[in-house]
Amino acid sequence: MASFPIVRPRRLRKNKLIRDMIAETNLTEKNLILPIFIKEGILEEEEIKSMPGVFRYPPNDKLIKFVESSYDNGIRNVILFGIPKYKDDIASSAYDKNGVIQTSVRLLKDTFGDKLIVITDECTDEYTSHGHCGIVKYNSKGEYFVDNDESLKIHAKIALSQAEAGADIIAPSSMMDGVVGAIRKALDENGYTDTLIMSYSVKYASTFYSPFRDAAYSKPAFGDRKSYQMDPRNAYEALKEAKLDIEEGADILMVKPAHTYLDVIRLVKDNFPDYPLAAYHVSGEYSMIKAAALNGWIDERTAVLEITTAIRRAGADLILTYYANDIAKWLKEGL
Ligand code: PBG
Repeated sequence: MASFPIVRPRRLRKNKLIRDMIAETNLTEKNLILPIFIKEGILEEEEIKSMPGVFRYPPNDKLIKFVESSYDNGIRNVILFGIPKYKDDIASSAYDKNGVIQTSVRLLKDTFGDKLIVITDECTDEYTSHGHCGIVKYNSKGEYFVDNDESLKIHAKIALSQAEAGADIIAPSSMMDGVVGAIRKALDENGYTDTLIMSYSVKYASTFYSPFRDAAYSKPAFGDRKSYQMDPRNAYEALKEAKLDIEEGADILMVKPAHTYLDVIRLVKDNFPDYPLAAYHVSGEYSMIKAAALNGWIDERTAVLEITTAIRRAGADLILTYYANDIAKWLKEGL
């Protein structure tokens, strides 16, 4: 007679080979997208105070060197964020043919060609004097608002200039209604039918973006982003946002932030399993781990691998993370 218990789940955890054999989730460097900050007017990289280990790079050989070393780690996907020399009300430095992003995309594509996927964040906040993700107007009471349909024209223009520079994927992050459709139309009308759109479909008004705003000098000069980014209390609203983006022509969807919104990742993946889903492990999520690690309160490697694996387990195919290089190196070393 078999001894109790007959079913022993621990048998499947007996040793590393068995655990590896039956693991439901895997994480590889091919799933990762590395965010890079590029700043006009500097000659050397500079470390970002609120994001230790993350740098702003000049659009020159220093950028190439960094991407080369990331490439050697196995990183194949990068997303670029620009910090321009000048800002105005209409984000004209964002669609300047010789703007910081356009220059950087050309530089990277000339160097790496088809071996590297270059994604461009498409927004106005880093390029406007007011720091909002669209065109700011004032009503008769003198209150500001972000004009949705006026903003679409600018977003389409920025996206087109990024595609012209050679971007493989455009990533609209403004949360304007109809932005994916406006960009898809502009790209198609100009022959860029093969340029992909990875939409920040489900982007919450999150406090965890604050180190990024410090890094990119993109904090709104007044007000906040709550009239366009999603309310953290809502999960099902994510389905409406994702559905609209699909109808407007998005190729890849995104949920952002990631660690704080694992339930939303699962919800979107379950409802739209036929669309690749990205999740953005954002600046604040990075800096919290980094701070704890620098204080010796947490083991950075195991914490980062656990969190990023959890993001994959929740249903994300791709992860945007400032830890991409570390993860790639850690995976190579083996667990
Ligand atoms: C907008 C944009 C932001 C982030 C990515 N794209 C800032 C914002 O919405 O305020 C944040 C990313 C991060 O925190 O790591 N261009």
